[in-house]
Amino acid sequence: MEISYFEPNGMVTTNRFDVLIIGSGAAGLSLALRLPDHVRIAVLAKSNLEEGSTLYAQGGISAVTDPADTFESHIADTLDAGAGLNKPEAVRFTIENAPAAIDWLVRLGVPFTRHNGSGDPERFHLTREGGHSTRRVLHAADATGRAMETTLAAEARKRDNITLLEYHIAIDLITGAKLGLSDNRALGAYALDCHSKHVKAIPAHNVVLATGGASKVYLYTSNPDTSSGDGIAMAWRAGCRVANMEFNQFHPTCLFHPQAKSFLVTEAVRGEGGQLRLPDGSTFMERFDERGNLAPRDIVARAIDHEMKRLGAEYVLLDISHKPAPFIKEHFPNVYARCRELGYDMTLEPIPVVPAAHYTCGGVITDLRGRTDLEGLYAIGEVTCTGMHGANRMASNSLLECLVFAASAAEHITETLVDRPDIPELPAWDESRVRDSDEEVVVSHNWDELRRCMWNYVGIVRTDKRLARAWRRVDLLQQEIQEYYSNFTVSGDLLELRNLAQVAALIIRSAQLRKESRGLHYTLDYPETDHSRPPEDTVLSPSASGEIDMTPAQQRAAS
Ligand code: FAD
Ligand code: SIN
Repeated sequence: MEISYFEPNGMVTTNRFDVLIIGSGAAGLSLALRLPDHVRIAVLAKSNLEEGSTLYAQGGISAVTDPADTFESHIADTLDAGAGLNKPEAVRFTIENAPAAIDWLVRLGVPFTRHNGSGDPERFHLTREGGHSTRRVLHAADATGRAMETTLAAEARKRDNITLLEYHIAIDLITGAKLGLSDNRALGAYALDCHSKHVKAIPAHNVVLATGGASKVYLYTSNPDTSSGDGIAMAWRAGCRVANMEFNQFHPTCLFHPQAKSFLVTEAVRGEGGQLRLPDGSTFMERFDERGNLAPRDIVARAIDHEMKRLGAEYVLLDISHKPAPFIKEHFPNVYARCRELGYDMTLEPIPVVPAAHYTCGGVITDLRGRTDLEGLYAIGEVTCTGMHGANRMASNSLLECLVFAASAAEHITETLVDRPDIPELPAWDESRVRDSDEEVVVSHNWDELRRCMWNYVGIVRTDKRLARAWRRVDLLQQEIQEYYSNFTVSGDLLELRNLAQVAALIIRSAQLRKESRGLHYTLDYPETDHSRPPEDTVLSPSASGEIDMTPAQQRAAS
């Protein structure tokens, strides 16, 4: 197949892509598969096609499929978990479109677990997770994301109209404004080919950011390495607004083990009866919320953090050993196997767990079609702030949002494709920058400093003082990183560091602007939720030079 982009030698091919999708997770691949066959699509993945958070999703995907459940109940639970900040129209839109999204996945062949007990064997087995008032989470045992991602990837590999560009890291969007044109719209992207080490300009009539979240900005995270906030940073640099970046979700239960690199233990373990305990074996969640172990994630993570600090404990315990061993092995085969590899038998004993950064609730602002502030630029999946999650995402609502917004964006792109004007010639990347071995050491030190600073000062519990300290450090890091970026050859690590530093700055500023505690944002200086006025999103806008362009009210709040 002819690949239509500009090579660094200046070679120009005549084809352009109709749609360039940056990211190959649940959001990116389902969008690619939803577009009609005549649409010429490129999908970029910074690693192999399957790698990304989707592959590791465990618990499942929420949808009203049980006749006893209702949309109103799913909506009410989502709004409750989101602490008043969700956009009701986005919540309703997502939840009412959920059954159709599930049908689509089933038709593609995603093997959701069915009932093997009494009754109809075709019925989906539904599990329960924090915040859900009933069982409504479809799953493929405890590896739902793997089942989805491998099905979507296999399907994408079969399509002739989809060009898959693995190991290509998008660096920046190419826009009309950056080329000095009066018509500002997305025209494509520059991407580093990790094998040839050259940067390519890829022209496209529509660009879709489906790059996932930014949890790698924290030292400890459940996420794979792909979650470096690239899409948020690229959209920001292209002039798009972002919202609610202060709402970083910490998953309560990642396995505590030096070699486990924050392996997630699905919330469905608690949904099926697992209990959190202190190191002395006593339970504690009932002291924090009447929903106990199944309270929304922000409450559980904060309670664990509180108890660990109070006791000086390194971890708390998660115990499902009271359930029959065959039940545990059937429902959680992967978690069970991983724990066994690391020396724990969850059928016999409690396992040690700690919270770790898990999900980015804020992101690029979009409407219900996935449109951003820039013409021709869409964003879908975890990179976005659609209004679905508010101040705290409810479990298993993320995969759902990916699928519903991918379908909606695909529809809009298809409707508007004929209207897109021609793409002008795109300038080739400046390849004259040099490599410096010293630079690589500094980049890796800065990586560590940034992620540690975010973990220590912008974590589960915040204060004005800690945020101010973090801001000073990140501001300095950003200046240093910009210097390397301007002078040296780009590398994957440098690109990610630059993006993470940008995202860190957006998180800190957003956190400084919220003078209350709400959902995932908890600060000791304002420990209560402000009920005196309607809740507002924290919206940040970029200035022409990429700085945070604050309103006078925001300037007062940040000072
Ligand atoms: P991802 O799946 O993260 O994919 C991002 C893609 O973007 C990748 O292909 C990556 O290579 C690409 N990319 C990123 N940057 C660039 C770049 N610069 N250039 C080119 N490509 C780039 N949610 C649920 O609803 N249910 C669950 O059970 C669940 N369990 C989870 C368990 C774990 C361990 C984790 C980490 C998350 C879980 N989540 C769950 C959250 C959910 O998996 C993610 O929010 C969701 O999969 C995000 O999908 P996405 O398509 O937006 O991004
Ligand atoms: C989990 O399985 O606990 C993760 C679910 C989610 O993040 O939605």
